[in-house]
Amino acid sequence: MNDPDAFWGREGKRLDWVTPYTKVKNTDFTMGKVSIKWFEDGVLNVAVNCIDRHLPSRANQTAIIFEPDDPSAPARHISYGELSESVNRFANVLLSQGVMRGDRVVIYLPMIPEAAYAMLACARIGAVHSVVFAGFSPDALANRINDCGAKVVITCDTAPRGGRRTPLKSNADAALLHCSDRVRCLVVKHTGDQTTWVQGRDVDVLAQMKEVAPDCPPRPMNAEDPLFILYTSGSTGKPKGVVHSSGGYLCYAAMTHQMVFDYKDGDVYWCTADVGWVTGHSYIVYGPLANGGTTLMFEGVPNFPDPGRFWAVCEKHKVNQFYTAPTAIRSLMGQGPEWVDKYDLTSLRVLGTVGEPINPEAWVWYDKHVGKGRCPIVDTFWQTETGGHMITSLPGAIDTKPGSATLPFFGVKPVVLDAATAAVQEGNGVEGVLCFSDSWPGQMRTIWGDHERFMETYFQQYPGTYFTGDGCRRDEDGYYWITGRVDDVINVSGHRMGTAEVESALVAHVKVAEAAVVGYPHSLKGQGIYAYVTLMNGIEPSDDLRKELETWVRTEIGPIAKPDLIQWAPGLPKTRSGKIMRRILRKIAENDFGALGDISTLADPSVVEDLIENRQNHG
Ligand code: WTA
Repeated sequence: MNDPDAFWGREGKRLDWVTPYTKVKNTDFTMGKVSIKWFEDGVLNVAVNCIDRHLPSRANQTAIIFEPDDPSAPARHISYGELSESVNRFANVLLSQGVMRGDRVVIYLPMIPEAAYAMLACARIGAVHSVVFAGFSPDALANRINDCGAKVVITCDTAPRGGRRTPLKSNADAALLHCSDRVRCLVVKHTGDQTTWVQGRDVDVLAQMKEVAPDCPPRPMNAEDPLFILYTSGSTGKPKGVVHSSGGYLCYAAMTHQMVFDYKDGDVYWCTADVGWVTGHSYIVYGPLANGGTTLMFEGVPNFPDPGRFWAVCEKHKVNQFYTAPTAIRSLMGQGPEWVDKYDLTSLRVLGTVGEPINPEAWVWYDKHVGKGRCPIVDTFWQTETGGHMITSLPGAIDTKPGSATLPFFGVKPVVLDAATAAVQEGNGVEGVLCFSDSWPGQMRTIWGDHERFMETYFQQYPGTYFTGDGCRRDEDGYYWITGRVDDVINVSGHRMGTAEVESALVAHVKVAEAAVVGYPHSLKGQGIYAYVTLMNGIEPSDDLRKELETWVRTEIGPIAKPDLIQWAPGLPKTRSGKIMRRILRKIAENDFGALGDISTLADPSVVEDLIENRQNHG
């Protein structure tokens, strides 16, 4: 694109501004002074853009369809008018708890409409939300509350999922033991299950919503004011608080949602992600609502009460666009096409995938059995950091190839660099690491409280560009194929996990001396978590201990971090300077012993033989 100011200057107008911007792009990728600003002198309110401006024409149109976990419970259709009232009241409850512009609010809720109300209520009053996935443990929740200095955490009593109930309020209680006494706990009584109640700290949100005024004036916000923080795993250290802006983010989420899904007025759109991840932010809440769309929120899981649930919901609500993760497709594929064939899927027009590379077999199955060969598939490559789609096809406009995310979205400038030399790989038929050479409005602005780490993580290794952490190939036709992470991040069922996080959870166990975690190919999850564990002197390995460690990691981080395989490792392969050679551990985990490469630099090469022998015993 030759004139990003003109192009994005026009696109910014898809939003309603209190004070229109006069500047469009002001970005600098130079290491040491990285700064990203879009529409920087514009003033707007995100909740107004997602709700108020639609009211004159859409007050009675459904904004959110809520499909509960229990298929026999009624679905709810929440109109824009109803959404408006709930968000205004919710905002007034937040104000009554002393939440002010710029304050942080942690949202620890499952897939219920109140999650969207809470997010939009924050946006209305200029508070910064940070949604923590409801599958995270109390410890993980406490870390996030403390890192962003939240004033309030919003949760619910219990969360039904797949017929079981997660005790979210108890988790929040446990987390709050590690937080400041001043943090208030707002509780949505969703199931009515019994919970403990701390007088003076806990607030019954739904009851309070009835007490407060039905309207709350929106706070005019600067385009660059943070809208939310979302924690995500990196290759080192604790999760990073990715900060997104108000103006640029919303513009990008709205534009990509409309174009990539070919969203048209009146369509029913369903993204199966959880609001705890970025996909839920951009493509369940902000993008669809900014476009005045109808977005479906599903509380349940794909295989409850049976593996036909997704398709039953598509039929029931006449879904037009369906967006899910390859891991879900793979698991449903294993159940056989009869579960799909039972349902009328003629309403479907566009299918999407996100989160990990999709294997061509799953792509072809999705196309044939779900799309019946007539729905274009958009394989959307993007990240928490990018705010919205980066490399993706456009329905009907770009020919697809199973397994390729195809071509960059408008205004996106990918570059493929040699991993070692950073040399730009010109032309087609090349491979390397994927970077972006220029900014786009949805780009993250910083890491909460640590701009230095932001620059080091994304702009240091390949100067002048944003580094995704992914490898990629550009084929002879110029199509992009994402080959997976090149750092120590693994992708388990489309969820990002830092191997360092799992390692530090493992070594926090008294019986563990050392641990190294790598990813390995897993037929359903894409990647599985493979943990090499060295026990303390005198501790004997056993199946019971293996179970104990699995449970330990579940409680330290959450069920998604549970190792799929634990291998007892009497020693780990280290260089003479003590660095663990992960390359070797990855190969052993992959059962690829022929390609171990040079092991002569190891302090003790014999540990490798031990590990291989052990791996083979695992089959
Ligand atoms: C991976 C999810 C291949 C990639 C929106 C990226 C993908 C990480 C795709 C970001 C795709 C996401 N094809 N790989 N279509 N989409 N990824 O932050 O490794 O949870 O870096 O954002 O998922 O994961 P995150």
